[in-house]
Amino acid sequence: SEVVVIFGGRSSEYDVSAASAASVVTHLDRARYEVVPLRITPEGEWAVGDRAPAGQYSAQDLIRLTPAPGAPVRHTVADALHAMASADVVLPVLHGPYGEDGLLQGFLETTDIPYVGSRVLACSTGMDKDVTKRLLAAAGLPVAASVVLTGTESSVSPQDRERLGLPVFVKPATAGSSMGVSKVVDWDELPKAIAVARELDTKVLVEEAVVGREIDVALLEFPDGQVKAGPALEISVGADRTFFDHTAKYADHTTRFDIPAKLEEDDAERLRALALNVFTTLDCRGLLRVDFFLRESGELVVNEINTFPGMTAASQFPQVWQVGGLDYSALLDVLIETALA
Ligand code: DAL
Ligand code: MG
Repeated sequence: SEVVVIFGGRSSEYDVSAASAASVVTHLDRARYEVVPLRITPEGEWAVGDRAPAGQYSAQDLIRLTPAPGAPVRHTVADALHAMASADVVLPVLHGPYGEDGLLQGFLETTDIPYVGSRVLACSTGMDKDVTKRLLAAAGLPVAASVVLTGTESSVSPQDRERLGLPVFVKPATAGSSMGVSKVVDWDELPKAIAVARELDTKVLVEEAVVGREIDVALLEFPDGQVKAGPALEISVGADRTFFDHTAKYADHTTRFDIPAKLEEDDAERLRALALNVFTTLDCRGLLRVDFFLRESGELVVNEINTFPGMTAASQFPQVWQVGGLDYSALLDVLIETALA
């Protein structure tokens, strides 16, 4: 079948998306799929490449195959729509606003084009860390304490400072890959951290720093509608990093994943159950990665979710499923078959 792989996009995770897409195209089964790469440039222009067999591609290869507007090639939204409408399925390998937040999904929904992953509401909810937390908390699921600052608000009351304690994490409400995130160990650093986060979103979260183990659960929906949790993954960052920041995610070889995480069976089961509960509560489809903290007390906290988690060679989702018994190609088969079921 023919798969349109959309990548790039207007968010700060453009490069991560290109790396995810390169891994996806590299692992799509050549015997089953042909690929049409579709790049959304950082400026929001749509650049359609020619149909090509799946196979080994780097992010640079994919970008070369989708020359930016100005070059004498197909590059309009109309051409992109035509390519998507003639394909069997669309794989929106996009992270962050304009791709993972429901906007693109709404466009695909409106034009009745089958695509992999969550629908509009789950994507838009899941992209906003504040809204995600409100919905999960309303369903009785555990989330970290936080304060939301909107507009130009930048002060945290003494009561809230007391409640959150130090350190805190300051995050843009809608970003990913730790873009715009700072760890603040002294309240004097707060204004600077807020300014950094505000470069990506006016809405900013100041969040308690949860002390505990960092554990991710990858969920996958099968064509029969069953959703399964893969083996839990524990993240250990190198001693010179204070948290799982952008460098630790993509460029630091001292970051370690343990799959399955060394857990008591009871904790592993609670993680699976809670992750599935998050999937259902937010009405997700296809795939989801739920990122947790496990406090020393044994309490689990949902840190955040990703409706289209990273798919690079260094990313958690494909590695979890590799250990869970599905290699990357088989994982992509499931995602596509479920989208078409
Ligand atoms: N937002 C990145 C891609 C992730 O969480 O994997
Ligand atoms: Mg994320």
